[in-house]
Amino acid sequence: MAAKRERETAERRIAALVAELHHHNIRYYLHDDPEISDAEYDTKLRELQRLEAEWPELLRADSPTQRVGTPPRDEGFQSFEHRVPMLSLDNAMDASEFEAFDARVRRLLDRETPIVYVGELKLDGAAVELVYEDRALQVGATRGDGRHGEDVTENLRHVHTIPLSLPESAPAGRISVRGEVVIPQVAFARLNRRREARGDDRFANPRNAAAGSLRQLQNVDVERLRSLELRAYQVAEGLPDAVTTQWEALGLLRTWGFHVSEECRRCEGAAGAVAYHTEMEARRETFPVEADGTVFKIDEFSLQGDVGTLPRAPRWAIAFKFPPQQATTTVRAIDVNVGRTGALTPVAILEPVFVGGVTVSNATLHNRDEVERKDVRVGDTVVVQRAGDVIPQVVEVVRARRPKGTRRWVMPEACPACGARAQRLEGEVVTRCPNLDCPAQLKNNLFHFASRSALDIEGLGEKLIVQLVEQGHVKRVSDILQLDAQRLAGLERMAEKSARNLVEAIERAKDTTLERVLIALGIRHVGAGVAELLAAHCRGDLDALMQSPQEELEAVDGVGPTIAESAAGFFADPRNQEEIERLRKAGLRWPLRPAAPKRSGPGPLDGKKLVLTGTLPNLTRGEAKSRIEAAGGKVTGSVSKKTDYVVVGADPGSKAQKAESLGVETLDEAGLLAVLSAEVAPPSDADED
Ligand code: IVH
Repeated sequence: MAAKRERETAERRIAALVAELHHHNIRYYLHDDPEISDAEYDTKLRELQRLEAEWPELLRADSPTQRVGTPPRDEGFQSFEHRVPMLSLDNAMDASEFEAFDARVRRLLDRETPIVYVGELKLDGAAVELVYEDRALQVGATRGDGRHGEDVTENLRHVHTIPLSLPESAPAGRISVRGEVVIPQVAFARLNRRREARGDDRFANPRNAAAGSLRQLQNVDVERLRSLELRAYQVAEGLPDAVTTQWEALGLLRTWGFHVSEECRRCEGAAGAVAYHTEMEARRETFPVEADGTVFKIDEFSLQGDVGTLPRAPRWAIAFKFPPQQATTTVRAIDVNVGRTGALTPVAILEPVFVGGVTVSNATLHNRDEVERKDVRVGDTVVVQRAGDVIPQVVEVVRARRPKGTRRWVMPEACPACGARAQRLEGEVVTRCPNLDCPAQLKNNLFHFASRSALDIEGLGEKLIVQLVEQGHVKRVSDILQLDAQRLAGLERMAEKSARNLVEAIERAKDTTLERVLIALGIRHVGAGVAELLAAHCRGDLDALMQSPQEELEAVDGVGPTIAESAAGFFADPRNQEEIERLRKAGLRWPLRPAAPKRSGPGPLDGKKLVLTGTLPNLTRGEAKSRIEAAGGKVTGSVSKKTDYVVVGADPGSKAQKAESLGVETLDEAGLLAVLSAEVAPPSDADED
């Protein structure tokens, strides 16, 4: 009986952890916007691994321990299949865990003598694969879920440490090189400063900044790409037979023109490895690029093969993490920030303290539950941490040092900026200020409205917005579009010329696209990607979009129930309707998008579902998709029994195999064109064919 109950408890905990880790994977990999620190993530992952080891029969196929990351998003970049999977690494948190790894390796190899490892820095960036054909760069892709990544070749071409071609000394044929795309600390700090000035969210860490830069789809910021660097660490395909060790492979990468971390070193046995790790940890502040640990790989490839690989990570390598950078300090006050969407975020105001290379004077406490759980009080001594994260976190309270007479902190009942009664909705962790006219929200909304991905109003920065709001010139977002030079000239530090420039910038920004308008409106869950989907769906017709019921929005490919509910709710609110009307009256305009070419009568692909995989010889994916849609068909992301055709190009993904196993008909490009032209082409053309 007791055993059964224990098993049930484990099963429930496993289910909860799987769901939670899945959520965090999506935040991390898809949105480049993690909610928790790496350390917290690792703790959860390890708990799950432990439970699964204890209850092997409870191991679920969808467990995050069975794979890395998250599959690439459907919309946007082409999917790229890694012929050799890009694996993850297991972690060691301290010397004893590293020694356990080394002991296992020696047990597996049945060896007493020390193993030679190559020690490398674990750079905190985005892993990429670069494929060369006959020495010319063909494709560069992100790791994605390890099997399929995103083809970000065009963006990677701007990274100047990526050789576009290899020297003659490299073999012909296919070569795959892997490495980490990183952003140097200096460039990272600059990027975040710029984002903040624009009212965009900061990147939580250099890795998210690097990954986010690589995955820019539109209005690609080339400067940002140029600030990235590649450090190569692996040849995954095309390694000459003569190269038999990792150490030699690193040397070869250098001769091919790649940057390889200078800190790489051969280390003998666990003692040598731990010494290397300790030295790197002492030097970590001096590296131009953030490293969050070291990586050790068995040097001899033949021994790597003997030790083997598990589905998620090799057994011949391990990441040895640096401890998070922590310090203790005291809490002077707990303030509440009001975000753009009215979210009230408690922030600990700290006695300034130096952690991980920066002075920290405040740390987010996330939300009410978090403060309650940690029981952080004014006057407390707390441990703060910067674990690769740039947003410092309060880890815990040092209870022993709590002064007498402190009081539990309570979330204020009113918004600190406008006094409106704060609300917390059922099932949400966030407390919000419901007042749409709240000045704090208004300021943040204005930053967002003017930011680059939204209306991109040049020169409308933070200081100006604060003045405009505080002096009552702007009471709602739409007022911005009505500012005239006279009113602006009255502001502090605003010369006539800059006032004129700003008015011109506002005028320019009025001519825009629906996609930018949707971003600018600040609808929750509607970021750039979703805005594009919605704008395309309604073909630029905002009225049509506003009248679409939630179910219709949900039916848009890439739009889930949360987004649909949020957007429909936003448009249903009369205050938002009025504001949209005011924006239009103030001159905000955007073009309708041309409808797909009209068909005369029924299309040849009416009601048919098609899936595209691989690269077609002539048509781009976008062209193929719009032609199929013009012919009445629908392009979907995955193959099922309901799929009518799978269009297969070069280097197809697993979708081609799936089609075969399900008996779904496949077409090549010529076949697709034939199906399409069944009706679309006029008879005279058809005769000539
Ligand atoms: S080797 C099977 N070497 O860490 C080999 N990875 O958790 C797997 N990383 O996806 C990768 N520095 O993004 C390797 N010197 C290094 C690395 C490194 C950073 C990252 C990489 C990988 C992740 C594994």
